[in-house]
Amino acid sequence: MAAIQLERLRKVYPNGYVAVETFDLEIRDGEFLVLVGPSGCGKSTTLRMIAGLEEVSSGRIVIDGRDVTEMAPADRDIAMVFQNYALYPHMSVRENMAFGLRMRKLPEHEIEARVGQAAAILSVEPLLERRPRELSGGQRQRVALGRAIVRQPKVFLFDEPLSNLDAKLRVQMRTELARLHAQLGTTMIYVTHDQVEAMTLGDRIVVLHKGVIQQVDAPMALYQRPANRFVAGFIGSPAMNVLPGELRNGCFRPAGSERDLQVPSGLPEGPALLGLRPEGLALDPGLPVLSEVSLDVVERMGHETLVYFQLFGQPCVARLAPDATLAMGRRVTLGLKPAGWHLFAAEGEQRRLSGTQA
Ligand SMILES: Nc1ncnc2c1ncn2[C@@H]1O[C@H](COP(=O)(O)OP(=O)(O)O)[C@@H](O)[C@H]1O
Ligand SMILES: [Mg+2]
Repeated sequence: MAAIQLERLRKVYPNGYVAVETFDLEIRDGEFLVLVGPSGCGKSTTLRMIAGLEEVSSGRIVIDGRDVTEMAPADRDIAMVFQNYALYPHMSVRENMAFGLRMRKLPEHEIEARVGQAAAILSVEPLLERRPRELSGGQRQRVALGRAIVRQPKVFLFDEPLSNLDAKLRVQMRTELARLHAQLGTTMIYVTHDQVEAMTLGDRIVVLHKGVIQQVDAPMALYQRPANRFVAGFIGSPAMNVLPGELRNGCFRPAGSERDLQVPSGLPEGPALLGLRPEGLALDPGLPVLSEVSLDVVERMGHETLVYFQLFGQPCVARLAPDATLAMGRRVTLGLKPAGWHLFAAEGEQRRLSGTQA
């Protein structure tokens, strides 16, 4: 088990591309930390620097109080699991899991004990004598995990380990990873572009965008108080609706609207963005009216219905209670729930100015 400090970490690739902008982060002992962001934002680069697979341009990596910045990967006591879990095809599952330990010349009884233990944790005991080609994708990924577990590392690093699995298996493995973390209690850093994986697995989540940390927070805090428009749009599905408009006299008026929305006093006047979570809108006649809209698309999900429409010229979506009368082309009056809106600056980093919690 180990805490990790990333101090002023930065990565510039030889071609001059800045993949990770000066990065400060403290990962707690035993924490499940998720790095999330769109493709190309620098997640793998960050993880590979921690693992020692990628040289650091500047900054320091401290694991368990030891500066490992210049240390070889093998000496860092870290195990990494990738999206492409290359198992040795000619070896059995048992041999695949034991291989790393054999290389490190652990005594045979110790290897056997560790493989047995990992196999039990991952429920792959019946598969131990099989070859990788005789396994399903999910089973192979479990063996790849087993290979990491038997090493009993101080830290686990995961780089999109579930991306190659089909949707159902991905959800199943996600719960298994959460269970694994609870069982082992080892520090884990998990990289994904999938905000649902991030929200469900992370004790804390780091949102990355273009190599820059946008926010570090617990899942619900990210959702309820996104630091800027990028985080607001990235976390949550369907994504938050955003309406441009104007802050004036303690009110926000969306562009193209005649109605003012009362907002807290003291906000800077001028252009701003209103963020509306899809669940912040409803048809309840008791709510303050936002607008009458015409439904473009209706998606019945079972437990909820998603409706798509144009609101003051912006494409928007609302998450409504199931209602058989909702249909394409129907006009409905949308109300705004007291909770569920946010205001962002229109300029610069589009910082969050104010908002209510959904
Ligand atoms: N060896 C390299 N040389 C130059 N640029 C690279 C190299 N490897 C990755 N990059 C660039 O750095 C950025 C971050 O890459 P990466 O960390 O793999 O992103 P992510 O894992 O978030 O998708 C990307 O724009 C990528 O194209
Ligand atoms: Mg990557």
